[in-house]
Amino acid sequence: MPLSKVAASPIARLKTGIGELDRVLGGGLVPGSLVLLGGSPGIGKSTLTNMALGNIAAAGHKTLYVSGEESAEQVRLRAERLSPSALEVPVLAETDLDGVLEAIASHEPKVCVIDSVQTLRSAELSGAPGSVGQVREVAARIMDVAKARSIAVVLVGHVTKDGALAGPRVLEHLVDCVLQFEGERERPYRELRALKNRFGSTNEAGLFEMRQGGLVEVLDASARFVAEATRAPGSVVLAAMEGSRPLLVEVQALVAPSELEQPRRVVSGLDRNRLALVLAILGRHGGIGVGGHDVFVNVVGGVRVDEPGVDLAIALAVASAARGVALNGQIAELGRSPGSGGAPCACFGELGLTGELRWVGHPERRLAEAARHGLAGVLAPSGSGAQAREASTLREALVAALPAAARRPARAA
Ligand SMILES: Nc1ncnc2c1ncn2[C@@H]1O[C@H](COP(=O)(O)OP(=O)(O)OP(=O)(O)O)[C@@H](O)[C@H]1O
Ligand SMILES: [Mg+2]
Repeated sequence: MPLSKVAASPIARLKTGIGELDRVLGGGLVPGSLVLLGGSPGIGKSTLTNMALGNIAAAGHKTLYVSGEESAEQVRLRAERLSPSALEVPVLAETDLDGVLEAIASHEPKVCVIDSVQTLRSAELSGAPGSVGQVREVAARIMDVAKARSIAVVLVGHVTKDGALAGPRVLEHLVDCVLQFEGERERPYRELRALKNRFGSTNEAGLFEMRQGGLVEVLDASARFVAEATRAPGSVVLAAMEGSRPLLVEVQALVAPSELEQPRRVVSGLDRNRLALVLAILGRHGGIGVGGHDVFVNVVGGVRVDEPGVDLAIALAVASAARGVALNGQIAELGRSPGSGGAPCACFGELGLTGELRWVGHPERRLAEAARHGLAGVLAPSGSGAQAREASTLREALVAALPAAARRPARAA
């Protein structure tokens, strides 16, 4: 059949009422779709799904929360913390797959959450719950029902120690959307990302904070991160892109003499290889070598930055830490207010292997976000726009950002 003859009605999406979640999903839950929500223990998967179901129930749709992990009583205790509407969601504490499928068939919810896919077990298979065979069977049988009855199903999944979704990879192929809920447990911020989405972009990320009343969307993240930026040696503000949304985050570095033969390179919220690359470029083209020193680089707040624009921020943070001097705040005002004080130094840009500073996407949005939070003169690659303080090489960027006294070619302090 020619595709033009295939009947296609516009997708009606069910809003979860949690703005950040809806955005990451691509506008809401699609009826008949399967969403896999992964995340490390205690990160807030159950809280997020409980809240979403509560909102959907409050909007007048039938919901069902299947708990294989917690008793109905435990689920109620959590719901009490969240909202009155979360208490309206029917709960089924069950681990037998047939029992769950029966309940879905008789109750006919619009949205069903299975918490978690690893705890359900089909009596027809001998494997233990969570085994490859079981997880595959559970997901496939649930998908049949979901597609046949146009039920949106959220499968909560466990995450292994190294951060991958537990269970067979086939699960990721089977479902329509894979969401990852990440963050460090001792930090307040949690990030929701789409790793795969058949109905939307995978570039979006949502930011949450765990509070007494549940997960709260962080809408003013940039303002917070800028206000918290230390302006101390080793600190710089990165104008990053989280999907289609700009976000200002602080990148911090610490450079200290190492006692190890192979000095340590430790990152958090960044790709480790990226740090290695930037350190090599910084040594070769910036004249700032950190061999023999341990280097730690951290994106503050438990946020993860996965885009090339982070390179310049890493380089400046490390350079500033290595020299032990704060970067020139608000570079536009260079000469008037040198050193720290005032607004922190902000930047973005990718570094090439020959030491050039390369253009990255959406400079205008990054600059606008920086301007909105009082940061002018953002250090950026050539071609970024009139409001930026443009540099075409790492060396030029260092000249602009480091106070003159710190630029003499010496080894790291
Ligand atoms: N009263 C409270 N105030 C603030 N935060 C709380 C409160 N009670 C629980 N929490 C937070 O909620 C988290 C648990 O959330 P939740 O049960 O949704 O996580 P989960 O990802 O489903 O965990 P699991 O992997 O065990 O299923 C706890 O780690 C804790 O940080
Ligand atoms: Mg849970």
